Amino acid sequence: MSDYKALIAVAKQARENAHANFSNFKVGAALRSTSGKIFGGCNVENATYGLTVCAERIAIFKAISEGERRFDAIAVVTDTDALTPPCGACRQLIWEFCGDVPVVMANLKGAIEVLRMRELFPKPFDSSNL
Ligand code: THU
Repeated sequence: MSDYKALIAVAKQARENAHANFSNFKVGAALRSTSGKIFGGCNVENATYGLTVCAERIAIFKAISEGERRFDAIAVVTDTDALTPPCGACRQLIWEFCGDVPVVMANLKGAIEVLRMRELFPKPFDSSNL
């Protein structure tokens, strides 16, 4: 778990910036590239609700837009006792951009659970299906 300490710290910090005025559910994420760089993200909501972007996708888009292409872990942090797994849309993009990475779910009390993407997303649709 010590491998994930910095990743969780960045996700916690990013969560502070969550724009969650409608759900009041603040989420932080952090994505680590194989070069060791960590990209944080938070959920960003708006009045249409439907145009909300989750913390995980913000982190992915930040990293991709900075030229990163290879990743080895992603973390999701919320302030809930039941740890928060990525939503279905995020699972699709985590799979496509990161593959079978560990997904580190953590809360503010220090609880941590790690599941691999293969477990969270067992039968994906991706470019291999095209
Ligand atoms: N949300 C995330 O950012 N990531 C998740 O893994 C689950 C859900 C956000 C979307 C929305 O802003 C709020 O949490 C409630 O669904």
